[in-house]
Amino acid sequence: MEDAQLYASANAMQKRDALLVLTEFLPQMAWQEEGEMILDIGCGSGDVTRNLLMPLLPRVEKVTGVDLSHEMVNFASKTFQHNSLAFQQLDIERVIQPRQVFPEGFTKVFSFYCLHWVKGQENCLTNIFQLLQPGGETLLVFLASNPLFTMYEIMSQKPQWQQYMQDVSNYIPSYQHKTDPVQAMVDVAEDVGFEVLSCEAPQFEFVFENINYLKNAIKAVSPFLKRLPQEQRETFLMECLQELAKLKTCRDDGKMAARYHLMIAHFQRPE
Ligand SMILES: C[S@@+](CC[C@H](N)C(=O)[O-])C[C@H]1O[C@@H](n2cnc3c(N)ncnc32)[C@H](O)[C@@H]1O
Repeated sequence: MEDAQLYASANAMQKRDALLVLTEFLPQMAWQEEGEMILDIGCGSGDVTRNLLMPLLPRVEKVTGVDLSHEMVNFASKTFQHNSLAFQQLDIERVIQPRQVFPEGFTKVFSFYCLHWVKGQENCLTNIFQLLQPGGETLLVFLASNPLFTMYEIMSQKPQWQQYMQDVSNYIPSYQHKTDPVQAMVDVAEDVGFEVLSCEAPQFEFVFENINYLKNAIKAVSPFLKRLPQEQRETFLMECLQELAKLKTCRDDGKMAARYHLMIAHFQRPE
């Protein structure tokens, strides 16, 4: 997922969910009078960081957005300039000793729609733990499961697409096939040393006004599309939509709906 411009124009579902979760959880967090250092992991094109997170924070703080993708970071840095905001490349799974990168650490760490891309959940949570100052809190929001990934698994079995999707399992969220995803996440968090303030994976529904919105949303996040020859991309996308429809994503009114479970985890690094 590297086309920042496309992502920024096709992330209505992600923005809706970030807003819902922030509205509920920001008031539950302990806020200092000053000196809050905020990190947003997997900031992507930066619009959630700049336009949703920053205005909802109790006061304007120093905010840092990090992302694996240089292209996303470059786009975010150019598009959203603000005295209290900076963007930087960082792989939250693979960074070694993250406090060498951010010596002061952070008082709050947020992440929206990113951690389902991360296979090494333990590494990732360990790094978040280390990045937090003692007493700091993290709010992690990501897909616990989504029929989109079942659709990828089905597509990867088809002879026409197999060769482009051999590593499909790398793109299936860690908790997609767990019988109790919340407990699995809590277990990792507690092993790392976090105090679990809450962790849940409720079902959400997002209705796409027409099929093109859904198609663009898939286009914006599909890791496979750019591997295909240009002339096969449209066929691939149309088949993705057909497979999704078979997974009961089509409503009675003909609109397509995404029904998925969102992991919402609120942890604290003990004092
Ligand atoms: C779907 S976008 C979410 C962007 C934004 N947070 C939002 O809610 O719209 C997911 C982002 O996570 C980033 N990402 C994936 N794996 C990552 C990792 N290991 N470390 C940091 N960022 C990562 C991707 O590059 C991508 O920009």
